[in-house]
Amino acid sequence: MSLQLLKGKRGIIFGALDENSIAWKVAEKAHEHGAKFVLTNAPIALRKGDIFKLGEMTKSEVISADITQVDELESLFQESLHILGGKIDFVLHSVGMSPNVRKGLHYTDLDYNYLNKTLDVSAISLHKVLQVAYKMDAMNDWGSVLALSYIAAQRTFSTYSDMAQAKAMLESIARSFGYHFGKKRKVRVNTISQSPTITTAGTGVGGFKSFYAYAQCMSPLGNASSDECADYCIVMFSDLTRKVTMQNLFHDGGYSTMGISETLIQSCFTCQGECFDDIAEHERVMGKKK
Ligand SMILES: NC(=O)c1ccc[n+]([C@@H]2O[C@H](COP(=O)([O-])OP(=O)(O)OC[C@H]3O[C@@H](n4cnc5c(N)ncnc54)[C@H](O)[C@@H]3O)[C@@H](O)[C@H]2O)c1
Repeated sequence: MSLQLLKGKRGIIFGALDENSIAWKVAEKAHEHGAKFVLTNAPIALRKGDIFKLGEMTKSEVISADITQVDELESLFQESLHILGGKIDFVLHSVGMSPNVRKGLHYTDLDYNYLNKTLDVSAISLHKVLQVAYKMDAMNDWGSVLALSYIAAQRTFSTYSDMAQAKAMLESIARSFGYHFGKKRKVRVNTISQSPTITTAGTGVGGFKSFYAYAQCMSPLGNASSDECADYCIVMFSDLTRKVTMQNLFHDGGYSTMGISETLIQSCFTCQGECFDDIAEHERVMGKKK
Protein backbone atom coordinates (compact mmCIF):
# COMPACT_ATOMS: atom_id res chain seq x y z
CA MET A 1 0.00 0.00 0.00
CA SER A 2 1.74 3.15 -1.19
CA LEU A 3 -0.88 5.52 0.23
CA GLN A 4 -0.28 5.78 3.98
CA LEU A 5 -3.23 7.91 5.12
CA LEU A 6 -2.77 6.96 8.78
CA LYS A 7 1.02 6.91 8.96
CA GLY A 8 2.15 7.69 12.50
CA LYS A 9 -1.40 7.67 13.92
CA ARG A 10 -2.42 5.74 17.03
CA GLY A 11 -5.85 4.23 17.55
CA ILE A 12 -8.19 2.02 19.55
CA ILE A 13 -10.53 -0.31 17.65
CA PHE A 14 -13.58 -1.74 19.44
CA GLY A 15 -15.64 -4.62 18.06
CA ALA A 16 -13.60 -7.04 15.91
CA LEU A 17 -15.18 -10.42 16.63
CA ASP A 18 -14.36 -12.44 13.51
CA GLU A 19 -13.24 -11.83 9.95
CA ASN A 20 -16.74 -10.71 8.94
CA SER A 21 -16.82 -7.90 11.50
CA ILE A 22 -16.70 -4.37 10.14
CA ALA A 23 -14.08 -3.57 12.81
CA TRP A 24 -11.91 -6.43 11.51
CA LYS A 25 -11.81 -4.87 8.03
CA VAL A 26 -11.08 -1.45 9.52
CA ALA A 27 -8.15 -2.92 11.51
CA GLU A 28 -6.70 -4.58 8.38
CA LYS A 29 -6.93 -1.33 6.40
CA ALA A 30 -5.67 0.86 9.25
CA HIS A 31 -2.63 -1.44 9.42
CA GLU A 32 -2.09 -1.16 5.65
CA HIS A 33 -2.32 2.64 5.98
CA GLY A 34 0.47 2.75 8.55
CA ALA A 35 -1.47 3.13 11.83
CA LYS A 36 -0.58 1.57 15.18
CA PHE A 37 -3.54 0.55 17.31
CA VAL A 38 -4.89 -1.55 20.15
CA LEU A 39 -7.73 -4.03 19.53
CA THR A 40 -10.36 -4.45 22.20
CA ASN A 41 -13.49 -6.49 22.77
CA ALA A 42 -15.60 -7.96 25.59
CA PRO A 43 -14.04 -10.85 27.58
CA ILE A 44 -16.44 -13.37 26.02
CA ALA A 45 -15.35 -12.32 22.51
CA LEU A 46 -11.69 -12.76 23.47
CA ARG A 47 -12.43 -16.32 24.59
CA LYS A 48 -13.54 -17.13 21.03
CA GLY A 49 -9.98 -16.35 20.02
CA ASP A 50 -10.20 -14.95 16.48
CA ILE A 51 -9.21 -11.45 17.58
CA PHE A 52 -5.74 -12.70 18.59
CA LYS A 53 -5.18 -13.83 14.96
CA LEU A 54 -6.06 -10.28 13.88
CA GLY A 55 -3.66 -8.99 16.53
CA GLU A 56 -0.84 -11.08 15.02
CA MET A 57 -1.72 -10.02 11.47
CA THR A 58 -1.72 -6.31 12.36
CA LYS A 59 1.02 -6.46 15.04
CA SER A 60 -1.47 -5.14 17.61
CA GLU A 61 -2.02 -5.84 21.28
CA VAL A 62 -5.44 -7.11 22.33
CA ILE A 63 -6.95 -5.75 25.56
CA SER A 64 -10.13 -7.07 27.12
CA ALA A 65 -12.76 -4.47 28.08
CA ASP A 66 -16.51 -4.56 28.53
CA ILE A 67 -17.48 -1.29 26.86
CA THR A 68 -20.19 -0.66 29.49
CA GLN A 69 -17.69 -0.63 32.40
CA VAL A 70 -16.05 2.77 32.94
CA ASP A 71 -13.21 1.37 35.08
CA GLU A 72 -12.34 -1.11 32.30
CA LEU A 73 -12.37 1.72 29.74
CA GLU A 74 -10.05 3.79 31.95
CA SER A 75 -7.57 0.89 32.15
CA LEU A 76 -7.89 0.33 28.39
CA PHE A 77 -7.01 3.95 27.60
CA GLN A 78 -4.21 4.00 30.19
CA GLU A 79 -2.65 0.82 28.77
CA SER A 80 -3.14 1.96 25.17
CA LEU A 81 -1.35 5.27 25.81
CA HIS A 82 1.54 3.29 27.24
CA ILE A 83 1.66 0.58 24.52
CA LEU A 84 1.27 3.02 21.62
CA GLY A 85 3.68 5.56 23.11
CA GLY A 86 1.47 8.64 23.01
CA LYS A 87 -2.01 10.09 22.75
CA ILE A 88 -4.73 8.56 20.60
CA ASP A 89 -5.63 9.88 17.11
CA PHE A 90 -8.62 7.69 16.28
CA VAL A 91 -11.22 5.48 17.95
CA LEU A 92 -13.64 3.10 16.23
CA HIS A 93 -16.82 2.19 18.17
CA SER A 94 -18.14 -0.83 16.25
CA VAL A 95 -20.27 -2.38 18.97
CA GLY A 96 -23.94 -3.31 19.13
CA MET A 97 -26.06 -5.89 20.91
CA SER A 98 -29.72 -6.26 21.91
CA PRO A 99 -30.82 -9.03 24.27
CA ASN A 100 -34.41 -8.40 23.11
CA VAL A 101 -33.38 -9.17 19.51
CA ARG A 102 -31.26 -12.11 20.61
CA LYS A 103 -34.14 -13.65 22.55
CA GLY A 104 -36.56 -12.97 19.69
CA LEU A 105 -38.88 -10.78 21.79
CA HIS A 106 -41.39 -8.81 19.74
CA TYR A 107 -41.17 -4.99 19.85
CA THR A 108 -44.60 -4.88 21.51
CA ASP A 109 -43.37 -7.22 24.25
CA LEU A 110 -39.95 -5.79 25.18
CA ASP A 111 -38.23 -6.75 28.39
CA TYR A 112 -37.20 -3.41 29.94
CA ASN A 113 -34.10 -4.75 31.69
CA TYR A 114 -32.99 -5.99 28.29
CA LEU A 115 -33.85 -2.59 26.77
CA ASN A 116 -31.54 -0.92 29.32
CA LYS A 117 -28.80 -3.36 28.33
CA THR A 118 -29.36 -2.65 24.62
CA LEU A 119 -29.02 1.09 25.20
CA ASP A 120 -26.02 0.72 27.49
CA VAL A 121 -24.01 -1.58 25.17
CA SER A 122 -25.01 -0.04 21.86
CA ALA A 123 -25.32 3.70 22.60
CA ILE A 124 -24.43 4.94 26.11
CA SER A 125 -21.12 3.10 25.71
CA LEU A 126 -20.12 5.73 23.12
CA HIS A 127 -20.65 8.42 25.76
CA LYS A 128 -18.57 6.37 28.22
CA VAL A 129 -15.71 5.98 25.74
CA LEU A 130 -15.78 9.69 24.90
CA GLN A 131 -16.05 10.81 28.53
CA VAL A 132 -13.13 8.61 29.61
CA ALA A 133 -10.99 9.92 26.72
CA TYR A 134 -12.06 13.52 27.46
CA LYS A 135 -11.36 13.40 31.20
CA MET A 136 -8.03 11.63 30.71
CA ASP A 137 -7.14 14.08 27.93
CA ALA A 138 -6.16 10.97 25.96
CA MET A 139 -6.85 12.27 22.43
CA ASN A 140 -4.54 14.28 20.21
CA ASP A 141 -5.74 17.52 18.61
CA TRP A 142 -7.67 16.81 15.40
CA GLY A 143 -8.38 13.23 16.51
CA SER A 144 -11.36 11.35 15.06
CA VAL A 145 -13.97 9.16 16.76
CA LEU A 146 -16.39 7.10 14.66
CA ALA A 147 -19.35 4.91 15.64
CA LEU A 148 -21.39 2.71 13.32
CA SER A 149 -25.10 3.32 12.92
CA TYR A 150 -28.03 2.17 10.83
CA ILE A 151 -30.88 4.00 9.07
CA ALA A 152 -33.40 2.47 11.51
CA ALA A 153 -32.45 5.49 13.65
CA GLN A 154 -34.58 7.61 11.29
CA ARG A 155 -37.00 5.14 9.66
CA THR A 156 -39.02 2.19 10.91
CA PHE A 157 -37.63 -1.27 10.17
CA SER A 158 -40.22 -3.47 11.82
CA THR A 159 -37.90 -6.20 13.15
CA TYR A 160 -34.94 -3.99 14.13
CA SER A 161 -36.68 -3.64 17.50
CA ASP A 162 -35.02 -1.63 20.30
CA MET A 163 -31.79 -1.31 18.30
CA ALA A 164 -33.59 1.54 16.49
CA GLN A 165 -33.73 3.52 19.75
CA ALA A 166 -30.09 2.63 20.44
CA LYS A 167 -28.97 3.94 17.04
CA ALA A 168 -31.00 7.16 17.44
CA MET A 169 -29.31 7.73 20.81
CA LEU A 170 -25.88 6.82 19.43
CA GLU A 171 -26.20 9.45 16.69
CA SER A 172 -27.43 12.02 19.22
CA ILE A 173 -24.46 11.36 21.53
CA ALA A 174 -22.07 11.84 18.59
CA ARG A 175 -23.64 15.27 17.93
CA SER A 176 -23.70 16.37 21.58
CA PHE A 177 -20.22 15.14 22.56
CA GLY A 178 -18.85 16.28 19.21
CA TYR A 179 -19.47 19.88 20.30
CA HIS A 180 -17.57 19.52 23.60
CA PHE A 181 -14.66 17.49 22.20
CA GLY A 182 -14.41 19.86 19.24
CA LYS A 183 -14.10 22.85 21.57
CA LYS A 184 -11.61 21.13 23.87
CA ARG A 185 -9.25 19.38 21.45
CA LYS A 186 -10.64 19.82 17.93
CA VAL A 187 -11.58 16.13 18.10
CA ARG A 188 -14.30 15.21 15.61
CA VAL A 189 -17.08 12.76 16.43
CA ASN A 190 -19.25 11.20 13.70
CA THR A 191 -21.42 8.19 12.99
CA ILE A 192 -21.41 6.22 9.74
CA SER A 193 -24.79 4.78 8.80
CA GLN A 194 -23.86 1.61 6.96
CA SER A 195 -25.79 -0.64 4.53
CA PRO A 196 -26.97 -4.05 5.79
CA THR A 197 -23.78 -6.13 6.03
CA ILE A 198 -23.35 -9.88 6.56
CA THR A 199 -21.84 -10.09 10.06
CA THR A 200 -22.76 -11.76 13.35
CA ALA A 201 -24.64 -8.68 14.65
CA GLY A 202 -26.27 -7.99 11.26
CA THR A 203 -27.59 -11.47 10.56
CA GLY A 204 -28.94 -11.68 14.13
CA VAL A 205 -31.70 -9.20 13.21
CA GLY A 206 -34.96 -10.88 12.17
CA GLY A 207 -35.59 -10.71 8.42
CA PHE A 208 -31.98 -9.68 7.70
CA LYS A 209 -31.95 -11.36 4.27
CA SER A 210 -34.91 -9.21 3.20
CA PHE A 211 -33.28 -6.05 4.62
CA TYR A 212 -30.24 -6.86 2.55
CA ALA A 213 -32.06 -7.76 -0.68
CA TYR A 214 -34.47 -4.79 -0.45
CA ALA A 215 -31.61 -2.32 0.12
CA GLN A 216 -29.70 -3.90 -2.78
CA CYS A 217 -32.71 -3.40 -5.09
CA MET A 218 -33.22 0.19 -3.93
CA SER A 219 -29.64 1.49 -4.00
CA PRO A 220 -28.37 2.78 -7.35
CA LEU A 221 -24.82 1.83 -6.35
CA GLY A 222 -25.81 -1.37 -4.54
CA ASN A 223 -25.16 -2.13 -0.86
CA ALA A 224 -21.87 -0.97 0.60
CA SER A 225 -19.67 -3.89 1.70
CA SER A 226 -17.72 -4.06 4.96
CA ASP A 227 -14.49 -3.51 2.98
CA GLU A 228 -15.92 -0.34 1.48
CA CYS A 229 -17.10 0.77 4.93
CA ALA A 230 -13.55 0.27 6.20
CA ASP A 231 -12.22 2.47 3.36
CA TYR A 232 -14.62 5.23 4.42
CA CYS A 233 -13.54 4.87 8.06
CA ILE A 234 -9.88 5.27 7.03
CA VAL A 235 -10.68 8.53 5.22
CA MET A 236 -12.64 9.74 8.25
CA PHE A 237 -9.67 8.95 10.54
CA SER A 238 -7.24 10.68 8.19
CA ASP A 239 -6.31 14.38 8.03
CA LEU A 240 -8.34 14.71 4.82
CA THR A 241 -11.59 15.18 6.79
CA ARG A 242 -10.52 17.49 9.63
CA LYS A 243 -13.58 19.74 9.47
CA VAL A 244 -16.21 16.98 9.36
CA THR A 245 -17.83 16.56 12.76
CA MET A 246 -21.17 15.91 14.53
CA GLN A 247 -22.54 14.25 11.38
CA ASN A 248 -24.40 11.07 10.61
CA LEU A 249 -22.82 10.03 7.32
CA PHE A 250 -24.78 7.63 5.13
CA HIS A 251 -22.63 4.96 3.51
CA ASP A 252 -25.30 3.01 1.71
CA GLY A 253 -24.99 3.27 -2.09
CA GLY A 254 -27.71 5.94 -2.19
CA TYR A 255 -30.39 3.94 -0.34
CA SER A 256 -31.28 6.62 2.22
CA THR A 257 -32.32 9.10 -0.48
CA MET A 258 -34.43 6.67 -2.56
CA GLY A 259 -38.21 6.39 -2.73
CA ILE A 260 -38.64 3.54 -5.21
CA SER A 261 -36.36 2.05 -7.86
CA GLU A 262 -37.00 0.46 -11.25
CA THR A 263 -35.91 -2.92 -9.85
CA LEU A 264 -38.53 -2.69 -7.15
CA ILE A 265 -41.20 -1.47 -9.58
CA GLN A 266 -40.55 -4.62 -11.64
CA SER A 267 -40.75 -6.93 -8.64
CA CYS A 268 -44.15 -5.45 -7.69
CA PHE A 269 -45.49 -7.01 -10.90
CA THR A 270 -44.57 -10.50 -9.68
CA CYS A 271 -45.92 -9.93 -6.17
CA GLN A 272 -49.10 -11.81 -5.31
CA GLY A 273 -50.59 -8.89 -3.38
CA GLU A 274 -49.81 -10.11 0.15
CA CYS A 275 -49.56 -6.53 1.43
CA PHE A 276 -53.08 -5.62 0.31
CA ASP A 277 -56.02 -6.06 2.73
CA ASP A 278 -58.28 -6.61 -0.24
CA ILE A 279 -56.83 -8.89 -2.95
CA ALA A 280 -59.39 -7.52 -5.44
CA GLU A 281 -57.90 -4.05 -4.95
CA HIS A 282 -54.44 -5.49 -5.73
CA GLU A 283 -55.74 -7.07 -8.90
CA ARG A 284 -57.42 -3.79 -9.94
CA VAL A 285 -54.25 -1.76 -9.28
CA MET A 286 -52.10 -4.19 -11.23
CA GLY A 287 -54.59 -4.23 -14.10
CA LYS A 288 -55.48 -7.90 -13.64
CA LYS A 289 -59.14 -7.07 -13.01
CA LYS A 290 -61.43 -4.19 -14.01
N1 LIG B 1 -24.05 -5.67 10.01
C1 LIG B 1 -24.91 -4.73 9.65
O1 LIG B 1 -25.82 -4.94 8.84
C2 LIG B 1 -24.74 -3.34 10.21
C3 LIG B 1 -25.35 -2.25 9.53
C4 LIG B 1 -25.20 -0.98 10.09
C5 LIG B 1 -24.51 -0.81 11.28
N2 LIG B 1 -23.94 -1.89 11.91
C6 LIG B 1 -23.25 -1.68 13.17
O2 LIG B 1 -21.89 -1.99 13.01
C7 LIG B 1 -21.33 -2.27 14.30
C8 LIG B 1 -20.47 -3.52 14.23
O3 LIG B 1 -21.27 -4.64 14.01
P1 LIG B 1 -20.90 -5.79 12.96
O4 LIG B 1 -21.99 -5.80 11.97
O5 LIG B 1 -19.50 -5.68 12.52
O6 LIG B 1 -21.11 -7.11 13.83
P2 LIG B 1 -20.16 -7.91 14.86
O7 LIG B 1 -21.07 -8.87 15.53
O8 LIG B 1 -19.00 -8.45 14.14
O9 LIG B 1 -19.66 -6.77 15.88
C9 LIG B 1 -20.38 -6.41 17.05
C10 LIG B 1 -19.34 -6.34 18.16
O10 LIG B 1 -19.87 -5.81 19.38
C11 LIG B 1 -19.10 -6.45 20.41
N3 LIG B 1 -19.72 -6.27 21.73
C12 LIG B 1 -20.96 -6.67 22.12
N4 LIG B 1 -21.12 -6.38 23.44
C13 LIG B 1 -19.98 -5.79 23.87
C14 LIG B 1 -19.53 -5.27 25.13
N5 LIG B 1 -20.32 -5.31 26.23
N6 LIG B 1 -18.30 -4.72 25.22
C15 LIG B 1 -17.47 -4.68 24.13
N7 LIG B 1 -17.84 -5.15 22.90
C16 LIG B 1 -19.08 -5.71 22.78
C17 LIG B 1 -19.10 -7.90 19.96
O11 LIG B 1 -18.18 -8.71 20.66
C18 LIG B 1 -18.75 -7.72 18.49
O12 LIG B 1 -17.34 -7.71 18.31
C19 LIG B 1 -22.53 -2.35 15.27
O13 LIG B 1 -22.70 -1.11 15.92
C20 LIG B 1 -23.67 -2.59 14.31
O14 LIG B 1 -24.93 -2.21 14.85
C21 LIG B 1 -24.02 -3.14 11.38
